[in-house]
Amino acid sequence: MDLDLTGRHALVCGGSEGIGRATAHELALLGAEVTVLARRADALAIVRDALPTVPGRRHHLLAVDMDDTDGLRTAVEAHVAAHPVQILVNNTGGPPGGPAHAAPSQAFVDAFRRHLLAGQILVQAVLPAMRDAHWGRIVNVVSTSVREPIAGLGVSNTVRGAVAGWAKTLSRELAGDGITVNNVLPGYTRTGRIEQIIADRSARTGRSSDAVIAEMEASVPVGRFADAAETAAAIAFLCAPAAAYINGVSLPVDGGRMASI
Ligand SMILES: NC(=O)c1ccc[n+]([C@@H]2O[C@H](COP(=O)([O-])OP(=O)(O)OC[C@H]3O[C@@H](n4cnc5c(N)ncnc54)[C@H](OP(=O)(O)O)[C@@H]3O)[C@@H](O)[C@H]2O)c1
Repeated sequence: MDLDLTGRHALVCGGSEGIGRATAHELALLGAEVTVLARRADALAIVRDALPTVPGRRHHLLAVDMDDTDGLRTAVEAHVAAHPVQILVNNTGGPPGGPAHAAPSQAFVDAFRRHLLAGQILVQAVLPAMRDAHWGRIVNVVSTSVREPIAGLGVSNTVRGAVAGWAKTLSRELAGDGITVNNVLPGYTRTGRIEQIIADRSARTGRSSDAVIAEMEASVPVGRFADAAETAAAIAFLCAPAAAYINGVSLPVDGGRMASI
């Protein structure tokens, strides 16, 4: 199986921690040059400096806020002009929790900007180099809520559906250029995001975090949360040459939690 990413450059967003950081590591292990993107330059520098390297290959960081649409466009366009990208991992921090009916309009606007508009800007910035190479991989880190909305994550459920529709459309538009577009749908994964969700549920229900965790783990057939490296491995596979014929899918990495087929 061809998993070799030597000579490819990957832009991994949300790369300062969690699933993004783990993905940067997996892609570097497969031979890719990696740029990690997030807001915190200091955290990104630590991640970049810890990535596996081979002689002649250098990893990079890009400190930018995906909520700042114009700033993101300027920063990414400048970066890809110097370092053309063939692999885009479109990933960022999830929206705040709460029921959809109580969310202010601005929360939907903010989530749409961070998840969908940022993705669109990133895709437009990397597309010329992917087309030139007639080879590209775009993987969006979304959520199982694409298929089964999650209680208490109203804004997130809404925007994830939009991202999935956008991605499916792109997958059909870009396949002729040798570019695949897929989504990974993480289940409960041990990162800062899951800690925030556990704290929210605990505050909302008055139950201890241990009780909340036990209930969440019991809902997963595998019986535990994922390690971020397990989610990252699925993302990295979709980026590999071996995955060339996988296009337009939404792949759950959820330990079997979703009941739908
Ligand atoms: N963990 C789970 O159980 C789970 C389950 C389903 C879906 N997901 C989704 O999967 C994605 C990744 O999750 P995760 O668990 O890895 O999250 P995480 O640990 O909270 O990491 C989020 C990453 O995104 C970056 N980020 C946040 N806001 C940003 C912004 N405005 N601009 C640029 N970068 C930003 C953060 O870095 P900086 O703070 O440095 O910017 C960080 O690197 C999220 O959309 C999450 O909702 C996670």
